[in-house]
Formats: sequence, structure tokens, C-alpha cells
Amino acid sequence: MAPALTETFGNPSSVHGAGRAARALIDIARDQLAAVLNARPREIVFTGGGSEADNLALRGVVHRLHSQGGHVIVSSIEHEAVLETARDLSHLGFELTELPVDGAGRVLPESLEAALRPETVLVSVMLANNEVGTIEPVRELAELTHSKSRAVFHTDATQALGKLKVDVQELGVDLLTVSAHKVYGPKGVGALFVRHGTSLDPIITGGGQERTRRSGTENVPGIVGFGVASHLAESEREREMERQAALSADLARWIQAGVPDALPTGAPNGERLANFCTFVFPGAEGELLLLRLDRAGVCGSAGSACTSGSLSPSHVLLAMGFSPQLAAAHLRLTLGRSTTSGDVERAGELICREVAALRQGAFAV
Ligand SMILES: Cc1ncc(COP(=O)(O)O)c(C=O)c1O
Repeated sequence: MAPALTETFGNPSSVHGAGRAARALIDIARDQLAAVLNARPREIVFTGGGSEADNLALRGVVHRLHSQGGHVIVSSIEHEAVLETARDLSHLGFELTELPVDGAGRVLPESLEAALRPETVLVSVMLANNEVGTIEPVRELAELTHSKSRAVFHTDATQALGKLKVDVQELGVDLLTVSAHKVYGPKGVGALFVRHGTSLDPIITGGGQERTRRSGTENVPGIVGFGVASHLAESEREREMERQAALSADLARWIQAGVPDALPTGAPNGERLANFCTFVFPGAEGELLLLRLDRAGVCGSAGSACTSGSLSPSHVLLAMGFSPQLAAAHLRLTLGRSTTSGDVERAGELICREVAALRQGAFAV
């Protein structure tokens, strides 16, 4: 990224040499991300993050069909970038169905089948949930959508990139969202895969960059960073996930040994992202637990880190059938590239101690 911030500082839309050099950097990043996703480079639209890519997917499809109205289906555990966008669209006259999930956070294909209608224009179900890590049967859901309707299928793969194989051909999706910061790239850069032939209107109009799908001078350093980060994440994915799965299992064992009534959330191993370790601690207030852990150097989250600051119970846990009280006692820990077994041991011990303290009414932060 550093050369793109300093030496190669041309505007990629300019025809002069400096502009062409910047354009060449974007082309390399587009090739890198396309290779990771098994897409064609021209099917990649760089955006200002995952939220923008989700907005482009939903609003872009619906805007194109605006005069016809229609029906949109999303899962009830989507990230707010999808869920709130879908709810906003419902105010514009589109009918919205929010699909229920089971207790592990899985969307059941039967419920999608029952919800699909001839007038359904868009279905959006995430590849992996950001609060509990549950992996959704996207391939099956996309197939079902295409066989039973003419709707476009979008998946938000923001959490899955670098953790699962994200192959747009295998998944059979029309649109797919990714975000750079989930693979150790820069924040504020994302992309939408748009399958060739998928009709989509831009949501940002102007100079016609990104083949008219996303106007605005490109964030060249950010895009360069995303290209490299996606390549690195994919090249070490299998090894890292094996390592992180073992550490995550150790952490779960620590927690369950120290807090026997802790309830694991999300789907069982193999059906969830391997780096997730999530529990509800009945009787321990989640926000307080987070503050106490933070003070000791353990960074967790109650629900989605992307919506932090909100104290209302997580819509994901509620949709999974947890009471508001239990949902407010949720702790999400995710492991990463730099997590060591020493970290896991320290976090495990600390969590057990702090949960016990909270239950005994030691409320001082
Ligand atoms: C599943 C999911 N979708 C979308 C987003 C939003 O992405 P961004 O923060 O890049 O806008 C996030 C949060 O990072 C996420 O976890």
C-alpha cells in the first residue's frame, strides 16, 4: 500500500502515465481478489466496505426492478447492513420476508422454499453469521432460489472470507459481498462480486468508475491492500483454520470446565467458523463482563463488533430463540492469526474468574 500512497499517486481515471500506473495497481488487486473468489476480474466491483457492497447488492437489484415492485427475502440473522437495508426497501413498497432460523442459527431450506413466490426478486442469506459463526447452507439455498423463482441470490460472505473456501462457482450465487478488514486488509474497502449477466443499478452515480457500477475515484491504496490481503488469507487459510480450531476447542474446554452451566451458542463444530468461541453465561451481564475482560486485556464482544455501542439484545440471539435476558449475557470471542495457546489459557482463566465474580454481585468495573 505504501507505494500507492506515495510514488504511484496518479488518478487511475487519468490517461497520463501516472494515472495508468495507478490503474495497473487496481488491475492487479482485481485479479488477486477474483482468483480467490474464482470469479472473473470484470465481475469484481470495489466498494467502500462490506456495508456498501451489501447496499449495492440489495438496492441495486431492487432499484432496477422498481417499477415492477416485488418481494424480497432475507434471513432474520443478517448483519444490519443487509437487514436494515431490506427493511428500508420495504418502506419503498417492496414486500419483505425475514426467514426464521433454528436454535443454532441455521436457515432451513424448507422455510426458504415456503417463502419463495413468483414475484420474489431477491434473496439474501449470509454465508456465515458474524455473531455466532454459524455457516449457512448457501449453495443449497441458491440452488433452490434459482430452481423455484427468477430471483437474484446474494450472500454476505464478509465473515467467511479467509475462514472458508469462498468459491462463487461452487456456491452458485449471483452476488457476493466481502470486506478487506476481515482478512487483515485496510478498513473502508470492500467488494461486490456481480455475476456476469446480473442486472444491477448503481447506488453511487457520477464518473462511471468500476464499469459504471460504483462511481468515485478509487481508493487505490485500500484496493491494493485488499488484493494482497485476500491472497495471503487464502494461501494460509487451511493451515490457520486448523490451528485456530484447535485453540478455539481448548478455549471452550477451559470455559466449560470453569463455568459448567455456560451455554455454547451457534452450530456445532464443523458447521461454524472455526475461529469462533461463543457462550451465554446465565446470570452474568454481557456488557459488564466485556468491560472487566477488556480491563484485563481480553477483547471480546457481546454481539456484533460492527454495531457496538448498542445495548439492546442481539437480534441474532433473539431469532435463535434466546430470551432477552440470556441474549444479554452473550460473549463472542474470535481467534485470529496472532492468537497463541498462552492467550487462550489466560483468556479462559480470566473469563471463568470474572463470570464467577459477576454472579457473586461484584459489579465494580
Ligand atoms: C457479516 C457482515 N456483513 C457486513 C459487515 C460490514 O462490513 P464493513 O464494516 O466493511 O462495512 C460486517 C462487519 O464488519 C459483517 O460482519
